[in-house]
Amino acid sequence: MKRILFPSFLLVLLALACTKPVPPQELLTANDAKINDIIAQMTLEEKVEMLHSKTNMSSAGVERLGIADIHYADGPFGIREEGQPNGFMSAGWTLDSATYFPTGSALAATWSEDLAFKYGAGMGREARLRGKDVILGPAVNIQRLPVGGRTYEYLSEDPILSAALALYYTKGVQDQGTAVCIKHFAVNNQETSRGSVDVKIDERTLREIYLKPFERAIVEGGAMSVMPAYNKVNGDYCSENEHLLNEILRGEWGFKGMTVSDWGGTHSTMGAMLHGLNVQMTGSNYLGQPVIDSIATGALTEELVDEKVRQILRLRFAVEPVPADVANTVMTSQPESQKIAREVAEKAIVLLKNQGVLPIREEVKKIAVIGQNAVLKTQSGGMGAGVKALYEITPLEGICTRAAEKGVEVTYAPGYKNFPGRRWGPAPAEPNPLEAAAIDEPADPALVAEAVALAKDADLVIFFGGTNKNIETEGSDRKDIKLPCGQETLVQALYEANPNLVSVLISGGPTDLQVLEPVSPAIVQGWWNGTEGGTALAKVLFGDIAPSGKLPFTFPVKLEDSPAYALGNFPGNSAGGDLFTLMFRPDVLKMSPAERQALIDALPKPVSEYTERFYVGYRWFDTRAIKPMYAFGHGLSYVDFSYEGMKASVSGNKVKVSFQLANEGDMDADEVVQLYVHRVGASVEWPEKELKAFQRVSLLPGQRKKVTLEIPLDDLRYWNEETNAWDLEHGQLQLLLGSASDDIRQTAEVTI
Ligand code: BGC
Repeated sequence: MKRILFPSFLLVLLALACTKPVPPQELLTANDAKINDIIAQMTLEEKVEMLHSKTNMSSAGVERLGIADIHYADGPFGIREEGQPNGFMSAGWTLDSATYFPTGSALAATWSEDLAFKYGAGMGREARLRGKDVILGPAVNIQRLPVGGRTYEYLSEDPILSAALALYYTKGVQDQGTAVCIKHFAVNNQETSRGSVDVKIDERTLREIYLKPFERAIVEGGAMSVMPAYNKVNGDYCSENEHLLNEILRGEWGFKGMTVSDWGGTHSTMGAMLHGLNVQMTGSNYLGQPVIDSIATGALTEELVDEKVRQILRLRFAVEPVPADVANTVMTSQPESQKIAREVAEKAIVLLKNQGVLPIREEVKKIAVIGQNAVLKTQSGGMGAGVKALYEITPLEGICTRAAEKGVEVTYAPGYKNFPGRRWGPAPAEPNPLEAAAIDEPADPALVAEAVALAKDADLVIFFGGTNKNIETEGSDRKDIKLPCGQETLVQALYEANPNLVSVLISGGPTDLQVLEPVSPAIVQGWWNGTEGGTALAKVLFGDIAPSGKLPFTFPVKLEDSPAYALGNFPGNSAGGDLFTLMFRPDVLKMSPAERQALIDALPKPVSEYTERFYVGYRWFDTRAIKPMYAFGHGLSYVDFSYEGMKASVSGNKVKVSFQLANEGDMDADEVVQLYVHRVGASVEWPEKELKAFQRVSLLPGQRKKVTLEIPLDDLRYWNEETNAWDLEHGQLQLLLGSASDDIRQTAEVTI
């Protein structure tokens, strides 16, 4: 089967595009005539075979008609190791080591559309090498909770930043002829009871905050598939949610592709069939034989099945299948992608604080690296989204390599026990003395003493703290954001021994820094930064490059300051009754559908109230004047940037801002300029300020550049719940231009 994206009628459409561009989703309908012919030749059984999984990571085509199966791969930050056909256990292949790209929150810290595109392209190319048609990513849910188990996979707490990166990731993947499956649609912002929680959310918040990243990737990026999430939204499971799937996704956004339920996230035949699901993953208990039976009784029609098959075939025709003898013939991870992973890693690292300790000075001849997170590999764990990386440079390896080139000695001590979390294999015969029994296990005096001895004997101490993928993981949220396993006691002891200390946080989400901050003259957010993470970190620490990442989410002083906690919404009534975990329990898998349903009916009914509404992340902190530990958008450099001559105007359907940005330092450096909007005298309720535009700008030493930012007026609209439509509130806008949400350098006003 050939990929035919541009047949003649489409060229005509494209010609008309001079006046009206063809919406990317319309491109998917290019082969509809041919698809209809194929559907006419299919039996009902063949059609229904396409509506559910064939293996754990594929759904069926029709061999008789030359329609290839669809092959899926996790996503979102590397092509996942090949699993067994019937589950996630390794297939034991040797060519399936992939590039481990920095995880979602690290990508977001680059604030770079260009890098998101390259990242997507790297993923898309590697998917093709492995014979995969669809990447189960990007994962774009808004980071609502600091404790969120999947914060590291997701992008940002802000919809504009998330949407821009989701769009360019999508474009990058699909540019390679691979489809994205953007996930998890929608409002899957907690892992607690994720399989059954009912999210109660108002329409304005849903539209302005939680749907934005999906909307852009689908409408502007032409995302070919969408993964409905596990949870319910306002009463209905996402995989059978009329409002989300039929009214908004297909109706308003014009989505022409297919939806694929999250694994185990389909809940009924009628609900899924009538309310917008195409493919049940995994299993066929709902979208298999019961569909055929329902047609026999007249409860469903074959036309509906045809419509679903048409939507699936659109993706199948847009993505050329990789022939079996071409797939998996070379190693998945390729140097080109490794280079992208390094570039992203270099630009993701955030310098949170620096009292002159960084970059490492020439006089430093001996460095003590302390903390197990310096040697931790972060490619796998955290359940689904792991990667079997071809290689991974740890922070210690990166530092040792660069230090050796500079003639600097490096010593290392583990400092604390790491929390191992759940184990998928048999327990080791001997307990590992470096593994803690509990996350809050206090510091081990012997490990602290060993680390302190090294600290005293060094010119500089680099402490590696943070979490790991047993603590931040799919399937559960963190209990709190405290640094685990006695790290606070350790860092205090290290500082006392040697105040020339840098703390590097290796984590995907925010941590509570109340104890660490006062004893750390410099703090770096190092993320789970991919296959070249250690190389990138060493370059930043030694000053080969200037740090340029900016926080994609707020670091609260304490968890209770953040909106869902402050209002008692989380965990609130949302704990208990985790349907997802239940459905995969061996005894439950053996039950009859009726027994399983009875069990489900008897579960508690967890509810998550979003009464904080659109006051998510910095929108809450700014409006309530609560000072965070580190604000959204914060990130220091080794140079200073000056902002001058801001001019603002409204022209056509855009607000335009221009200004002069200069690098006042003596090294190359990137600045991420951020434009926020504050409404003056508004009659509609708004947060104190909202990000509306941003740009990463590269500057040579001493260079000055004119920078222009634009805000489409459409991005200034709000969802009017009275008219149930987008509305623009005319009036005065204060434009706040700066280097972070709490570092505004220039302001201007316009009237719209
Ligand atoms: C996750 C998805 C993932 C799927 C397949 C689910 O548990 O929520 O993000 O794509 O598994 O691995």
